[in-house]
Amino acid sequence: MSSGNDKLDAYWMPFTANRDFKMNPRVITGASGHYYTSQDGSKLYDTFSGLWTSGVGHCHPKIVEAVQKQVAELDYCMTFQVTNNKAIELAEKVTGIAPEGIDHCFFTNSGSESVDTALKIALGYHRARGEGNRTRLIGRERGYHGVNFGGMSVGGIVPNRKVFSANLIPGVDHIRHTHDIKRSAFTRGLPEQGAELADDLERLCALHDGSNIAAVIVEPVAGSTGILPPPVAYLKRLREICDQHGILLIFDEVITAFGRLGTAFAADRFDVTPDIITTAKGLTNGVIPMGAVLVRDSVYDAFMQGPENMIELFHGYTYSGHPVAAAAGLATMQVYEDEGIFEQANGLEMHFEDLLHSFADHKHVIDVRNFGLMGAIEMAPRDDAPGARGGETHKKCFWDENHIVRNGMDTLQLSPFLNSDPDEMEQSFNAIRRVLDTLE
Ligand SMILES: Cc1ncc(COP(=O)(O)O)c(C=O)c1O
Repeated sequence: MSSGNDKLDAYWMPFTANRDFKMNPRVITGASGHYYTSQDGSKLYDTFSGLWTSGVGHCHPKIVEAVQKQVAELDYCMTFQVTNNKAIELAEKVTGIAPEGIDHCFFTNSGSESVDTALKIALGYHRARGEGNRTRLIGRERGYHGVNFGGMSVGGIVPNRKVFSANLIPGVDHIRHTHDIKRSAFTRGLPEQGAELADDLERLCALHDGSNIAAVIVEPVAGSTGILPPPVAYLKRLREICDQHGILLIFDEVITAFGRLGTAFAADRFDVTPDIITTAKGLTNGVIPMGAVLVRDSVYDAFMQGPENMIELFHGYTYSGHPVAAAAGLATMQVYEDEGIFEQANGLEMHFEDLLHSFADHKHVIDVRNFGLMGAIEMAPRDDAPGARGGETHKKCFWDENHIVRNGMDTLQLSPFLNSDPDEMEQSFNAIRRVLDTLE
């Protein structure tokens, strides 16, 4: 069926209500710093820094320059059997800022690919060590680990799974999510209660026997489900249980890596070191698609056995370690360092928290949550139309206030730039408030 907007018909948009969108399309044609330009020439403030991607702002001149230079110098080079200098440099740079002991880096093109790569590495690791029985994978309810079959299976967001329910990969279980609005609504930062929810992993170890479990994957702060910061001490407890049972712990840091929590990795902020870290987004500031899976020495070393002329991991993508993406990554890392981006993010956290929590007494708001520069304002759903308040907020912010505001159903998700201007940030919350005041 035609959308009534023939120009857009060929284009099937991801995670979007296509027919609704095509009736009144919101099309971006340019960007600079903290602003987008739409096709009618309006300048829009971006409260989501891309899609959690563009922490240092759009079209950063240093990253643009590096990409332009690289594409003219080496546009592509396969990384099976030969490789390129930029991929080597970026692997060194990223592992150089990773937690101690995480010294190896496998490149992908997205968060979803990073997750599926990490799950395969976990399975291969146990097999290489003679524990091929460890095949079970554990995710968490409400987790988001991308849209490929592995990540979707360990993920726990129902609408993403329900159509594919019979085709999810076998041998996957989920621990409970950590959201407890009755006990923790309007908490600033980490909820005090709930560390015991990590013990749910013990339940699955008892059910399957821990010796059959390969890995547990969690987002240190659950993002796409609507920002769920973990309870105090929860991640430490998960680490302990994994250690007791020989299970690998995977942190999916596709959102949290590279400054979103004011540190290089969430692992640093929580002082919990996993065995594998998945990344993407902030690796290149979103400029060129790229992901990276970072692994502990012991995991890498387990693969480096057998005849030296044999491939150790039968896995990789045509664009793993793409030189232009790697150049964007290198420039991004340099900007993080030169401009003290993680420190800037850290310095903005309290201001962001205060602005978010000023919504606590708004008539539609039932919860406000935040950690680092990740924040959520959750509105009560309308009885007859769940998601409508969130959707209207997004559209009104775009059309009436020149702001891009992301909603997941009735929860507004905020991901400010890591180098936000505090006044601009405040103005953006004022714009959101004006819109919320108009909602039924
Ligand atoms: C935690 C997490 N993992 C994986 C992904 C998937 O990343 P991509 O959309 O690049 O495949 C996302 C995307 O938002 C994410 O937030």
